[in-house]
Amino acid sequence: MATVTYDKASRIYPGAERPAVNELNLEIGDGEFLVLVGPSGCGKSTSLRMLAGLEDVDRGRILIEGKDVTNLPPKSRDIAMVFQNYALYPHMSVYENMAFALKLRKTPKSEIDRRVKEAAQLLQLEEYLSRKPKALSGGQRQRVAMGRAIVREPQVFLMDEPLSNLDAKLRVQTRSQIATLQAKLGITTVYVTHDQVEAMTMGHRVAVMLDGVLQQCDTPRALYDTPGNVFVAGFIGSPAMNIKTVPLAEAGANFGPLAVPLTREQAAAAQSGGGKITVGFRPEATDLVSPTAGGLPIVVDLVEDLGSDANVYGHAALDGGSERFVVRTDRRGMPTMGETVFIKPQADHVHLFHAETGQRI
Ligand SMILES: Nc1ncnc2c1ncn2[C@@H]1O[C@H](COP(=O)(O)OP(=O)(O)OP(=O)(O)O)[C@@H](O)[C@H]1O
Ligand SMILES: [Mg+2]
Repeated sequence: MATVTYDKASRIYPGAERPAVNELNLEIGDGEFLVLVGPSGCGKSTSLRMLAGLEDVDRGRILIEGKDVTNLPPKSRDIAMVFQNYALYPHMSVYENMAFALKLRKTPKSEIDRRVKEAAQLLQLEEYLSRKPKALSGGQRQRVAMGRAIVREPQVFLMDEPLSNLDAKLRVQTRSQIATLQAKLGITTVYVTHDQVEAMTMGHRVAVMLDGVLQQCDTPRALYDTPGNVFVAGFIGSPAMNIKTVPLAEAGANFGPLAVPLTREQAAAAQSGGGKITVGFRPEATDLVSPTAGGLPIVVDLVEDLGSDANVYGHAALDGGSERFVVRTDRRGMPTMGETVFIKPQADHVHLFHAETGQRI
């Protein structure tokens, strides 16, 4: 078990114009499940590979349990990695796949046997130990890949999109299994995904990256409740938050017929944004109101009936253009396509951002 520290760690690939990972600062606690999330190409895998020792650290340092490992080779770092494509050895049985790394390390046979059987039990793979990978389902292969990491009893687990080969249903099942397993083993884990739902359901904390830069690292709840900038606000949550940049007016943020009131402090903080402010409100924190209640009229384009509730997509004429909005509503009073409805964000759940910097106000 161990802590992990990224200390202003950067990776600049040869010939690249900007760092793939730019001065990453991150403290991961002992036993913590930290998820790195962000869009494709934002530097997640590079960050993980730097920690694994598979990628150079061009500036800054990486520490495991307080010890500088920046220049240590992968095998001296006491970590185990699970990759997207599992990389199982096709000619070896499940047992041999799991035992392989230990054999290389000349671990005594009885010890290997104990660890493999323990892991197999934990992962419900006992009946498959003599099978070859090709005779396993995707989910079973995924568990073998986990087993190979577990038997090494590493200080840190690294996982790079380990569920991306599984179908949607199995992904959901497996992600809760991994989270449960991690809690049971208590091994510090860094987990990479581009799927924000996966990140939010699995991580103790979630680090959101964009263009090689860490945007925010916090608990799922804090990311959801108080996103630190416009990018995080739009990235976390599904359907995504409604985010619009609108003129600042006397009455607040001006959405035509709807004004989102601002405190004096908020208006002052927004001042330097060129007379504009960026306002965000989540679909689930938006109400359908009566036509006389001062809401913003939107024309319904699509209603997604989710069974329990519904997502209503629509557009409104705003500031000379057409802007899209989405509202979560219960199924009673669900509008129909083409209808005009009036929407209003719930006052306590409005997010404000500086129009130019995108930082939370
Ligand atoms: N070996 C390499 N040489 C040069 N550039 C690279 C190399 N590996 C990655 N990059 C670049 O570095 C950036 C970060 O890549 P990285 O693989 O870390 O992204 P990622 O967040 O894992 O994306 P994805 O979700 O698609 O896996 C990208 O712009 C990518 O093109
Ligand atoms: Mg990647």
